[in-house]
Amino acid sequence: MLLRKLWPAVLATRTIFGQSVIVITGTAATGTLSGDGVLPTGLTYASFSTTRTISQNTASSLTLSGSNGTATTNGTTSTGSLINLVGATSTTNGTATTTASQNARPTNTQACNNYVEFCDRSYANITEIAAHNSPFAVKRNAFSNQDYGVVDQLNDGIRMIQGQTHLENNTLFYCHTNCNLLNAGTVEAEFKKIADWVAAHPFDVVTLLIGNAGPGLIPLNDYIGPITNSGLLRYAYRPPKIPMALADWPTLGELILRQKRVVIWMDYAANQTAIDYILDEFSQMWETPYSPTNDAFPCNVDRPPGLAPRDASNRLYLANHNLNAQVSIPGMDSKFLIPNTAVINQTNSVRGPGSLGLMANNCETQWNRAPNFLLVDYYNRDGTDPGAVFRVAAAHNNVTYNRKCCGSAVSVASTGRPIPLMQMLATSLIVLFVFTL
Ligand SMILES: *[C@@H]1O[C@H](CO)[C@@H](O)[C@H](O)[C@H]1NC(C)=O
Ligand SMILES: *[C@@H]1O[C@H](CO)[C@@H](O)[C@H](O)[C@H]1NC(C)=O
Ligand SMILES: *[C@@H]1O[C@H](CO)[C@@H](O)[C@H](O)[C@H]1NC(C)=O
Ligand SMILES: *[C@@H]1O[C@H](CO)[C@@H](O)[C@H](O)[C@H]1NC(C)=O
Ligand SMILES: *[C@@H]1O[C@H](CO)[C@@H](O)[C@H](O)[C@H]1NC(C)=O
Ligand SMILES: *[C@@H]1O[C@H](CO)[C@@H](O)[C@H](O)[C@H]1NC(C)=O
Ligand SMILES: *[C@@H]1O[C@H](CO)[C@@H](O)[C@H](O)[C@H]1NC(C)=O
Ligand SMILES: *[C@@H]1O[C@H](CO)[C@@H](O)[C@H](O)[C@H]1NC(C)=O
Repeated sequence: MLLRKLWPAVLATRTIFGQSVIVITGTAATGTLSGDGVLPTGLTYASFSTTRTISQNTASSLTLSGSNGTATTNGTTSTGSLINLVGATSTTNGTATTTASQNARPTNTQACNNYVEFCDRSYANITEIAAHNSPFAVKRNAFSNQDYGVVDQLNDGIRMIQGQTHLENNTLFYCHTNCNLLNAGTVEAEFKKIADWVAAHPFDVVTLLIGNAGPGLIPLNDYIGPITNSGLLRYAYRPPKIPMALADWPTLGELILRQKRVVIWMDYAANQTAIDYILDEFSQMWETPYSPTNDAFPCNVDRPPGLAPRDASNRLYLANHNLNAQVSIPGMDSKFLIPNTAVINQTNSVRGPGSLGLMANNCETQWNRAPNFLLVDYYNRDGTDPGAVFRVAAAHNNVTYNRKCCGSAVSVASTGRPIPLMQMLATSLIVLFVFTL
């Protein structure tokens, strides 16, 4: 019910629609609050929270679509799967609050990163599969690491995109070791594919791990162009603290509601004081030994060197689980590491010596929490067990993997117990956006 005499400097419309909390902040306004393109299209959350700044005498209207429930605002009740939340009608300043009747909460059926269970879970408490050298999917090139490009990877459920970037002719390229061996194109073009995918998938959070491969340390500023021009910038997460400890990370649901759905990391040369959306990897995430050529896959800290276990326990971590073989190239002096594809089926399998499943279990035992990222080559090469790598992650996430794998496959919804979305949003007023219309 609207308390008209307390009308808006802040109009807080707290609507229990499922767990939705709608917060409208503004000076006096007339008319209704309008969908302004900020809400992700096709929003089907049972929960939503937003803040709008309304200019005086501006007519606007906000339409939220959600699963069925009841929303009450301004003394009116709407029912159905399309709910119109009608906002302010006033020309004087003040404060008003409307409180809806607290109906039974609908269950959340909207998946975040393919699982409804993840919406409520911290970014720091989810195990995702990472595509090692994601862009290197060049056919008939031994320096490739993947069969499928980034769009297939994301469709299949990969949620960390990793790769090494090289500066050549003043342009950033994704190259493997050296641009003569394998050049997968510009970083900007690759980022654009990711940004387009992210735009089309409003309930997914994607992590990028950028390898700064030189020559020397590529200046941080060189990455601003590709991130901005590709369209990634608007989704880039800017952490509230430096460094972020384990407990500081928001849930996927929070990242999704804020539309900050791309978390960008860099291994070397990040400076979050200078550029807050390029996160410094090794002060907030550690890695197990990289590029191994034997399949023991120990779970000790390799980078950053000398990190005390006590500190490691309070950071995200990435398990390198790509096995390499050393090769010589005729006419070149150095030896090179390439993916050991002869045993890839076993490397990517759920169980057995050298398997991803075994490493993930060992890591969880050793650190009392599973790795955040499992970095693999040819994620689709799982022998007779398509999707094995995703099954390994699902086991550590306590969810059931039930999708088709891999490459241009039609995804099947994952199963799992529906869990109410973002309970915290139901009980706290969270100011998520402030827009001047
Ligand atoms: C919402 O209600 C309509 C009409 O009763 C029904 O057809 C639809 O399946 C319901 N949707 C959900 C998500 O429950
Ligand atoms: C909201 O409530 C006020 C006061 O009762 C009323 O004048 C106004 O027409 C209502 N607005 C809508 C859109 O129903
Ligand atoms: C309402 O608040 C705005 C912003 O603080 C102010 O500019 C305006 O004069 C106020 N209007 C009234 C009627 O108090
Ligand atoms: C950089 O320029 C040189 C000289 O034009 C050319 O040979 C080389 O292929 C270019 N490198 C890349 C990565 O395009
Ligand atoms: C990081 O950037 C800040 C702000 O530009 C600068 O003052 C600082 O020296 C930089 N730190 C390093 C290590 O370069
Ligand atoms: C991996 O398994 C698939 C399916 O059984 C098989 O076709 C392929 O030859 C195997 N690859 C290797 C390198 O063993
Ligand atoms: C992390 O996720 C697991 C499910 O995999 C859950 O049981 C546990 O409570 C979560 N821990 C935290 C700290 O959120
Ligand atoms: C795993 O999920 C099941 C329901 O699917 C739940 O009963 C159980 O408590 C969960 N375990 C953990 C450790 O979160």
